[in-house]
Amino acid sequence: MGMFRIRGGRKLEGSIRVIGSKNAILPILAAVILTRKPVVLYEFPSLADVENMLLILQSIGCRIKRDNSTLFIDPSSIDSWVIPDRYVKEIRSSIVMLGAVLARMKKAKITYPGGCEIGQRPINLHLQGLRQLGVIINESYGYLDCEAANMVGADIHLDYPSVGATENVMLAATRARGRTVIRNAAKEPEIVDLQNFINSMGGRVAGAGSNTIVIEGVESFDETEYTVIPDRIVAGSYLVAAAITGSEIVVENVIVEHIQSIITKLRETGCMIVPQGEGPVSSVRIKAPRRLWAVEHTKTYPYPGFPTDMQALFMSALTVAKGTSIITENIFENRFKHVPELIRMGANIRTEGKIAVVQGVPILKGAGVTAGDLRGGAALVMAGLKAEGETWIDNIRHIERGYDKLDECLRSIGADIERIEQ
Ligand code: UD1
Repeated sequence: MGMFRIRGGRKLEGSIRVIGSKNAILPILAAVILTRKPVVLYEFPSLADVENMLLILQSIGCRIKRDNSTLFIDPSSIDSWVIPDRYVKEIRSSIVMLGAVLARMKKAKITYPGGCEIGQRPINLHLQGLRQLGVIINESYGYLDCEAANMVGADIHLDYPSVGATENVMLAATRARGRTVIRNAAKEPEIVDLQNFINSMGGRVAGAGSNTIVIEGVESFDETEYTVIPDRIVAGSYLVAAAITGSEIVVENVIVEHIQSIITKLRETGCMIVPQGEGPVSSVRIKAPRRLWAVEHTKTYPYPGFPTDMQALFMSALTVAKGTSIITENIFENRFKHVPELIRMGANIRTEGKIAVVQGVPILKGAGVTAGDLRGGAALVMAGLKAEGETWIDNIRHIERGYDKLDECLRSIGADIERIEQ
C-alpha cells in the first residue's frame, strides 16, 4: 500500500505525454480472443486494471509477451470459457469479456460483477442485448452461465447508450450469423477504437461514433498490429493540473476532438488552450490565469457531453475558482465521494442528490485524505498540487488503476509529489 505526499503551491512547466487509453484497451484486450492469430498492440498502458485483464487472458490460455509499451499476444490456444472470480471482483469492466468469450467459445461462465465505489452498476442492458442475439443465460448463485451455440444477428435497441453494453453486444455479434444493428449505441471514442481494432482483424463493423452500429458476423479473424488511442481522461487530468496551479504546460499525444468538451469547460474558467500540430494526434498548450473563474453549470452526459470521469477532477479546479459553480452528475448515482475529502482541504461544497454547489475559496490547505475511487482520487492529487502545505493521500491503489506512475509524470513538470511506501 502506498501514499502520495504532495507539497502544494508549485507552478508546473514543460510538457507531459498522455498514455494509451485504459477504457479503449480493456475492450480491445477482450476482442483479441476473437482471433486465433498473433496480435501486437502499441501504446499499451501499464495500469492495474489492464494488468488484471492480462491475467484473465492468461487464465483462459493466451500467451503474452511485453516489450515496454508493446504487447504481443498469442490467442491460438484458448481452452477455457470460465472467467476466474477473483479478477472479475477486482476489475468490474472485465464483464466485457463475456461477449468475446461467447463469440470464441460459444459458452461462458462469469461471476456477477456487482456494484462498485461509484454506484450499483447493473448489467441488465448487456444481458438483454446478448439474449436478443440468442444467448441463453442462466443466472444462479451469483453466476452467469451462458450458452451461445446459435447466435443470430438481431435489431437491438439499448434503453440507454451504455458503453459496456454496446461493447459486449458488438463483441458477441461479430460471430453471430448475419447482421446485428445496435440502436441508441454509446458514441464514445473508445467504441470507435474497438470497431477499428475489430476491423483491423477482418471484422465488419460500421457506424461506431454514431448512435447506430451495424455488425456483420464473420467466420474468422486475422492477425493484426494496432495502436490504441490516447487516454482522453488522463489528458483532461493534466489540463486540470495546469489549470488549478495557474501554470502553462503542453500536453502531448492527444486527440483534440476527444477532449473538446473538457477544453470548452476549461476555457470557461479563463484558461487559454491552443491545439498544436496538424494530424489527428497532436498536442495542446494550456495557459491558466492566476485565479480561475467559476463555471455556472457543468452537467455530465454521455459522449460528446462532458464526461462523468472528469467530474471530480473539474470540481477540484472549481474549488479555488472565483465565484459559485454548479455541477450535476447525471451518469452515476454515487460519484461525490471526493467531496468530503475536498472539504477537509478547505473547499466549500454542498451536495444535494446529484447536484454539487461549489463556492470557490482563495486557497486550499493540505490535509490527510483518502482516495475513494479512481477519478475522485486523482481529483485529490490535483487539489494537493494547489493546496498550501502538505497533502497526504492514502488508498492510492484506486488512482493507480488508471494512471501509470502519476507521481513521476507530475514531477517531470515540476510538481513536488512523492509516492511513499507504507
Ligand atoms: C464506462 C467507463 C467508465 C465511464 C462510463 C460512462 C470503461 C471500462 N468504463 O463504464 O469509465 O465512467 O463508461 O462514461 O469503459 N447502466 C445500466 N444498465 C446496464 C449498463 C449500464 O443501467 O446494463 C447504467 C449505469 O448504471 C450508469 C450508466 O448506465 O448509470 C452508464 O454506464 P455505462 O455507460 O455502461 O458505463 P460503463 O461501461 O460501466
